[in-house]
Amino acid sequence: MSDSKGKSEPVRIDRQRRRVLIRSATAAAVATLGLPGLSVRAGGEERASSGIDVHIELHAVQDRVVIHPGAKTRVWRYQSKLLRGDASVLDATAGNYLGPVIRVRRGQRVRIDLVNELPESTIIHWHGLHVPEAMDGHPRYAIAPGERYVYDFTVLNRAGSYWFHPHPHGRTGKQVYFGLAGLFLVSDDEEAALGLPTGRHDLPMVIQDRSFGDDNQFVYLSERSDRAAPRGNGMMGPGMMGGGMMGGGMGQMMARMIGVLGDQVLVNGQPGANLDVEPRPHRLRLLNASNTRTYKLAWHDGSPLTVIGTDGGLLAAPLQRDYVMLAPAERVDLWVDFGRWPAGTKLTLRSLSFEGGTHMGGMMSEPALPDGAAFPVLELRIQGDAKGNVVAPPQRLSKLQRPDSRAAVNVNHPKVFDLTMGMMVWGINGQSFEMQGASPLETVKLGTHEIWEFRNDGRTGMMGMTMPHSMHVHGLQFRVIGRSVAAEFSRQHDTVKAGFVDEGWKDTALVMPGERVRILLGFADYPGLFLYHCHMLVHEDSGLMRNYLIKA
Ligand code: C2O
Ligand code: CU
Repeated sequence: MSDSKGKSEPVRIDRQRRRVLIRSATAAAVATLGLPGLSVRAGGEERASSGIDVHIELHAVQDRVVIHPGAKTRVWRYQSKLLRGDASVLDATAGNYLGPVIRVRRGQRVRIDLVNELPESTIIHWHGLHVPEAMDGHPRYAIAPGERYVYDFTVLNRAGSYWFHPHPHGRTGKQVYFGLAGLFLVSDDEEAALGLPTGRHDLPMVIQDRSFGDDNQFVYLSERSDRAAPRGNGMMGPGMMGGGMMGGGMGQMMARMIGVLGDQVLVNGQPGANLDVEPRPHRLRLLNASNTRTYKLAWHDGSPLTVIGTDGGLLAAPLQRDYVMLAPAERVDLWVDFGRWPAGTKLTLRSLSFEGGTHMGGMMSEPALPDGAAFPVLELRIQGDAKGNVVAPPQRLSKLQRPDSRAAVNVNHPKVFDLTMGMMVWGINGQSFEMQGASPLETVKLGTHEIWEFRNDGRTGMMGMTMPHSMHVHGLQFRVIGRSVAAEFSRQHDTVKAGFVDEGWKDTALVMPGERVRILLGFADYPGLFLYHCHMLVHEDSGLMRNYLIKA
């Protein structure tokens, strides 16, 4: 591994591989029909490139960056190149393993070439985006080292903070942990008309937890960022067996099932993050890109948070919350006028303590920074005095209808999805991930709405253990229409329940122990096979993921 490897041109890959696999939507569709390995020469199967507004090349590479003083940290990251479009599209902060931040407008046609320069297969999922099945990054489209995958889609989503990350089966947790993740920010006319803070007053914040070894290297189970994983032996799937379970023993095996919790919190790739801000309104877009950890975010002085958006964009109107729960993959958009604090104030965004987080249940030592512990996330120093009054956000943010459950074809019979654990394998209704196909329950009709209920009843919990899950549905945004909690969990649930923001569009919802969450989903535009799964990535990698099929 060397720094220069990441800078290699596609041409070099051509030579290495003698060809570039282009899997356009067409080629991918052919592959699903049972002709995998079909290779199409560059340019052969692509749609005409004339209508493309934005063209980006993302190379997934191994690299080294400075995170802590001393040795550089080996990371996996996306190196980006803008081939077409305005320079404002790409924001690649040098030295940061994350990113790039991609900024596009609703309606733009975007082409993104993923070039895999990692030692193992990968694929990108555009989390929260409404795209055709072959553009969605299902693990069946994963490409081998040296291959290229061409994404070509029109951005139909409303303005909002979406993101992207790898999605190869059994390896998503590791690849995200080693650094592969970036924001995909969409703007539109409705949002632009509001005059929300922009430029340096629009602050995307990616929150992650990591553990570092003595040599400043990420510690992810027993895998290292500079090693290709050995092949799984098939007994428990690649997520269970890939790399190092032999040496790790019982603790490793349990962590592989339960969760990976780092003991340092990083914001935009920086531990102990702090930032100088001006005493004026800002937009803070927070993404929890952690593998397992859930945050209970609040200002240190108890000031309420002003929430203006969720996963799928702006709310109808701003909301005040004493704290906000942010589970893995969730986003929240905050409005904050730093002018409300005196100049020189050090304002800390903290995670408060809560109950019901991921824990090891005494089967192995608890992590140094347990899920649900209190800790600082980000320190902001307010520079200079405010010029005038504290500015509130626009009171009407967006046209957002109340969800109408009567739209659902199963309004009186919600589909039930039990989050289950059996024989050391996660599942949904007792079934683990299968690459192809979906059950009748998981088959829906294009153009309809349905109500689903995720149940975290804990009945089948591993040796009586209960833990939260962060349920994500691909390909769409849904609305949360109800939550209920079993009596014996209500006390611990009280420590989190005021922090749910269920008022807007969501693609991920936290389901606490003992909780049931009902969502209303609409299946529009694109038929095909999509995923729904837990975004606590070891859960996803070890079976808490299934396909659902949208039938035309
Ligand atoms: Cu962000 Cu299938 O996940
Ligand atoms: Cu889970």
